[in-house]
Amino acid sequence: MLEHDVIIIGGGLAGCRAAVEIARKNPSLNVAVVAKTHPIRSHSVAAQGGIAATLKNVDSSDTWEAHAFDTVKGSDYLADQDAVEILTREAPDVVIDLEHMGVLFSRLNDGRIAQRAFGGHSHNRTCYAADKTGHAILHELVNNLRRYGVQVYEEWYVMRLILEENQAKGVVMYHILDGHVEIIRAKAIMFATGGYGRVYNTTSNDYASTGDGLAMTALAGLPLEDMEFVQFHPTGLYPVGVLISEAVRGEGAYLINSEGERFMARYAPSRMELAPRDITSRAIAYEIRAGRGIHPDGSAGGPFVYLDLRHMGREKIMSRIPFCWEEAHRLVGVDAVTQPMPVRPTIHYCMGGIPVNTDGRVRSSGDHFVEGFFAAGETACVSVHGANRLGSNSLLECVVYGRRTGAAIAEYVQNRKLPEINEQHYLSEAKQQIQALLDQSGQYRINQIRQTFQDTMTQFCGVFRTADLMGEGLQKLQQLQQQYSQIYLDDKGSCWNTEIIEALELRSLMVVGQMILASALNRQESRGAHFREDYAQRNDEKFLKHTMAYYSPAGIDIQYRPVTITRFEPQERKY
Ligand code: FUM
Repeated sequence: MLEHDVIIIGGGLAGCRAAVEIARKNPSLNVAVVAKTHPIRSHSVAAQGGIAATLKNVDSSDTWEAHAFDTVKGSDYLADQDAVEILTREAPDVVIDLEHMGVLFSRLNDGRIAQRAFGGHSHNRTCYAADKTGHAILHELVNNLRRYGVQVYEEWYVMRLILEENQAKGVVMYHILDGHVEIIRAKAIMFATGGYGRVYNTTSNDYASTGDGLAMTALAGLPLEDMEFVQFHPTGLYPVGVLISEAVRGEGAYLINSEGERFMARYAPSRMELAPRDITSRAIAYEIRAGRGIHPDGSAGGPFVYLDLRHMGREKIMSRIPFCWEEAHRLVGVDAVTQPMPVRPTIHYCMGGIPVNTDGRVRSSGDHFVEGFFAAGETACVSVHGANRLGSNSLLECVVYGRRTGAAIAEYVQNRKLPEINEQHYLSEAKQQIQALLDQSGQYRINQIRQTFQDTMTQFCGVFRTADLMGEGLQKLQQLQQQYSQIYLDDKGSCWNTEIIEALELRSLMVVGQMILASALNRQESRGAHFREDYAQRNDEKFLKHTMAYYSPAGIDIQYRPVTITRFEPQERKY
């Protein structure tokens, strides 16, 4: 059995930042990162527009309190305000720390870090590296893993969390290269496994964003929080769904319908294209529904709207958002200097996740915690985003809460022993699971079921939701779950068998999908990204609370826990 003081599952921003912090706090600790891709290929690398912090380099009147208020208002008042206060107070410090690590932020003429406008933020506070901010930050953090001697297990798929008597003891993992299975035990386990965009059929997320950490946590009998809140990013490039950064609108681009109108004036007159994402995505969906979308031949009634950059000019486009220009050019043949880009909402981010406190400790219920188990980043719900996240607050969450969780872990493992694990039991169970998949003589291909599942989630739990629609969606998921037990694999080998990984990932996706649908069906109100046509208003009296959903094969049990309100009383949300 392998052993480390700490194992971190996930090599993205939150996991790497936590590893660096643990090493800084206590260099004698033996820390490992386990990742199913090379850490540099974690989805954090795809983050584009920036990281919010009140550095005041562009706007001296900005304050952390204003950042906190914008975040809470953006969350439709569901965020826990103690967690938001930490996020926004610590933001300048974590950004400067990243700069000291060597992150190449874009600069103002006087050499200070540049800051741009972003949706839902009342001041220009988003620091950036052109439109490749995640890339710039992740590269430095991964360099630092080497510097601090963190061991990296890359291209290992973690199949199971070992949780016994309310203590996380280790994980079971599968080596993608040669198919062998290992158990690792540790004094503390941290999940930083990212989101689940692949639950839906159109997403800005990487192929690896399959919600594995969320599913493993749910399958271990622990709750997931606020899973109904799924963020659509307003500007996915049509038809592929990849991200066209909000930075493009932050730098001045317009959203235009088939009538040539800047339609955001109808939905958010004071913020226009820089309204929060839930409002902007719904506005685009309404325009398309009303027949003011555009077809590829330019006629009205089609499935997308235009993002128009032409007035910005070549020099600004190429210096501030070169990657977005390149994406549109390479993927759909649009030169954004002279042509508008076709865009529509695409699944982007998961506001909910594994419930944690502000030290990253995982909750086993509203008031109790699991020993030895921590989480941070998109997979966790601390909850700083509530019902809707503001752009450029997610990289921030990864580094603020990655750092805090790392510090808490360094403290937690002091004077603790490695846990006892029955290695043979877990090894033989995992090997049987793999062998059963290989031996199964089913009738369905994995991609058939995955595609139908993703289409089902998109159709039955998308931008607009009703009880009837979601009830039907849940029934369809049950049928798909039965079909999952009849999949077959062509590849029976052990060398780089990506079909096994796809089969395991599909299991994760289906667990997560069921948690999203059940949580959404129970929340009979509209709040942030969760919009119910049958309950179109926010209902603070009944639903100003966090969902805690517990998975079991028999069904999902929904409970709730209170929201922490410290400074900002809930108000009507207008922009
Ligand atoms: O639009 C973007 O660049 C995305 C940023 C974010 O999700 O924070």
